[in-house]
Amino acid sequence: MKVLVIGSGGREHALVWKICQSPMVQQVFCVPGNGGIAQEAVCLPGETKNLSRLADLVVEIGADLTVIGPEAPLVAGLADELMARGLLVAGPTKAAAQLEGSKVFAKQFMRRHRIPAADFEVGEDRETASASLGRWGGPVVLKADGLAAGKGVVVCSHPAEAYEALDSLLSGRLVGEAGRRVVLEQKLAGEEVSFQVLTDGKTILPLVPTQDHKQVWDDDRGPNTGGMGAYCDEGILSENLSRRILDEIVLPTLEGLRSEGIVYRGVLYCGLMITEEGPKVLEYNVRFGDPETQPILFRLRTDLAETLTALATGHLQPGPLSWEPGASVCVVACSAGYPGEYQTGKSITGLEAAEEEGAKLFHAGTTERNGTLVTAGGRVLGVTARGPDLATATKAAYTALSKVHFAGIHYRRDIARKGLERQHPL
Ligand SMILES: Nc1ncnc2c1ncn2[C@@H]1O[C@H](COP(=O)(O)OP(=O)(O)O)[C@@H](O)[C@H]1O
Ligand SMILES: [Mg+2]
Repeated sequence: MKVLVIGSGGREHALVWKICQSPMVQQVFCVPGNGGIAQEAVCLPGETKNLSRLADLVVEIGADLTVIGPEAPLVAGLADELMARGLLVAGPTKAAAQLEGSKVFAKQFMRRHRIPAADFEVGEDRETASASLGRWGGPVVLKADGLAAGKGVVVCSHPAEAYEALDSLLSGRLVGEAGRRVVLEQKLAGEEVSFQVLTDGKTILPLVPTQDHKQVWDDDRGPNTGGMGAYCDEGILSENLSRRILDEIVLPTLEGLRSEGIVYRGVLYCGLMITEEGPKVLEYNVRFGDPETQPILFRLRTDLAETLTALATGHLQPGPLSWEPGASVCVVACSAGYPGEYQTGKSITGLEAAEEEGAKLFHAGTTERNGTLVTAGGRVLGVTARGPDLATATKAAYTALSKVHFAGIHYRRDIARKGLERQHPL
């Protein structure tokens, strides 16, 4: 079969890499891809915003399955466009993608279906939002309603900060139109875990839970980024807590969608806070996490092309996915200045030496220029390694990363530390 992957980041490189390993797959295409993906798949130029053009392309290349990486085309309705033409797609419809596309929709959905989450109010405009904030007792989190590439959430420590954040959201200064409507949310305390499942709307196959590292500097300091690294091992969640997450969050979410006439086919990502009262949803994403997908797929044994095809046809087989035991870690190497303004076009060396260490380098912001690989984004590479335990996997990732060079490279030195220091699963 032929598979098309949509997107251009580290997540998509990991998807392409894994799909290429399937004996069912003859050829993998990627729109638009990146410098690393181009070494493993046929990259085609394309505007991921132009849905009907993308659907034309799927037909032209004869792709048997399209896997949609990023949220924007899902929220815009790419899955619907493909399904309307009778094409197989792994990724939810526009109606289902509202879970990520509108935080107001997601919060109201969770309230309707009694899914544990932070208490909230909706600020439809400046007047109602200021009034809500005036009544608000205690710490508040402000969230832009629409897609904001990780820049639409402000966790406020005091009221002055909250009023300022509200103003920067509603005025459009922070994230433009996405912030014209806001959610005011109770601030939760606990540890964050990403819990993702593959589902065809009926059968649920959990992926291994992961922890992401959002802030740019060690010890979770500095501004938020798209994600500086992630890891997974057996020690994040206890079996009991995983069960509770499935029973209290994942199942009611899918049942809730079904009761509203929505069939969900794709990855459902639950961003959770593990509070003293139990797991609560911080947000839903309607696609694979980035960079969580890199360490997850690096441990997955199951044939992903076969699984995603079954998912797309609504015939996902029950029974757990198969995993390499132990742990995996992905450390993201970034361009100088990221997550602020950064430069591109810096030549990258040491990739082969790094992969000789047994690591896999998933490219995010790279491109080929005159036969050499150069930086082309804020997040450049996700150096991913595996091991029998978290300490070994972490060491392997950093050893491999030490071989990689480009001008201004920076990365966190403490990816997976939380896991290494944890005595018992959450
Ligand atoms: N209710 C909350 N309490 C505490 N922290 C929160 C809350 N909601 C979000 N956060 C923090 O803000 C981050 C981003 O929020 P999230 O809802 O995941 O939005 P997005 O990923 O779209 O930016 C979370 O990973 C978490 O660290
Ligand atoms: Mg998030």
